[in-house]
Amino acid sequence: MKSYINESSFFEGNSPEKIAEEYGTPLYVYNEKIIRKHMASVAKVITKYPYTANYSVKANTNIHILRLALDEGLNCDAMSCGEIELLLRAGFPEERIFFVPNNVSPEELEYAIHNGIMTSLDSLSQLETYGKVCEELKLSEDDSSRRCAVRINPGVGAGHHEKVVTGGKKTKFGIQESDIDSIFEIASRYNLKIAGINQHIGSLFMSPEPYLEAVTNILRIALRFEKLEFIDFGGGYGIPYHKLDSADFPNGEADYPMEDFKRRLEPILDNFVAQYGSIPLFKSEPGRFCVAEGSVILSRVHATKENSGHKFAGCDCGMNVLVRPSMYDSHHDIEVIRDDAVVSRDNLIEQTVCGNICESGDLLAKNRLLPEIRTGDLVAVLDTGAYGWSMCSQYNSRPRPCEVLIGSDGKVRQIRRRETIEDIISLME
Ligand code: LLP
Repeated sequence: MKSYINESSFFEGNSPEKIAEEYGTPLYVYNEKIIRKHMASVAKVITKYPYTANYSVKANTNIHILRLALDEGLNCDAMSCGEIELLLRAGFPEERIFFVPNNVSPEELEYAIHNGIMTSLDSLSQLETYGKVCEELKLSEDDSSRRCAVRINPGVGAGHHEKVVTGGKKTKFGIQESDIDSIFEIASRYNLKIAGINQHIGSLFMSPEPYLEAVTNILRIALRFEKLEFIDFGGGYGIPYHKLDSADFPNGEADYPMEDFKRRLEPILDNFVAQYGSIPLFKSEPGRFCVAEGSVILSRVHATKENSGHKFAGCDCGMNVLVRPSMYDSHHDIEVIRDDAVVSRDNLIEQTVCGNICESGDLLAKNRLLPEIRTGDLVAVLDTGAYGWSMCSQYNSRPRPCEVLIGSDGKVRQIRRRETIEDIISLME
């Protein structure tokens, strides 16, 4: 791919320069059509059996993006009470929210119970706490909040970086298989019903193998639980972050093979259903896949320089705006926009694109072959819809950026105003 912005008509005929001028930079720009397309695709991962896709909202919690998920018929998983609150305010009914927290307080569990939200407990001690909360609330024997789920650690993990591998012997998540008898013991002591089991092996894999193996594994484990209402396989489907042609990816990286994955998943489910005797609801929890490709960050280049033969282009997209490159060495493709057009990639020179934060690790792209970047250009950082704004910070007292959405009607509207320094100061008053 030569230009994602051009080939996907990302700006839907709008001028990126005008958008940048009107809303300022750095700026997250979302494309509604692209996000809806991805959400619609995960909604159909399983068609033969009852299935829901839970959008994992930690990837992007902007309430306007949540409403797209609502409209596309997705359910959601939430990691915190804050995420639950956003979902409720976006209009999600409680039965479409699944709380999948880690190490939360009794008060947080109580909040979920009060809101009628199914919760997954990810350790024996959290299951015990949940049982105690139910007792303290004096829930009746048949109260639906006595139904809960447990998160199983499948013993294997996968992901783009060790920091995002969530399954496996060394991670903090889930209950190990050898503790399953203790799950039953705690559940019966507190009169809890284990309605579902869930897992998540990690984030961003481009081949279906690790996920299919993990599905096979959790279905084997599921046979030990009676009458499960649901089994949730977790998220992690990747997106091609190397979409532009490069030496490593001469034709750009291929998409996650969703059709191949679906085809191979079905016989695994058939086999389970034949053994289990009843058909539970199957779920998955994609976050990144739904939103990542639906956003670019527009950032203004304020300086260029050459230090000891290295060319640097300094822009206003620091690690406070997009932390993934500095946190995980993640690759995000970059396109250069000058005079409102994408600069062609015919002549590339090695440059390092960096931000305006006081850290030497504040690098968006290190020694990357790019068209020559000049002061005043816009750089468009691709695939920033997932774990972009949701992980940004106010480091160096920089207010967090504005977000705009290009609607399916092609119109640009602001979906989050830029923070101001007054917003930051007001919390200290
Ligand atoms: N379900 C659970 C329980 C999770 O922990 C996660 C992600 C997901 C679903 C969604 O995974 P996804 O489909 O988005 O891969 N900040 C990192 C990713 C951290 C993912 C944490 N858990 C990044 O920027 O790559």
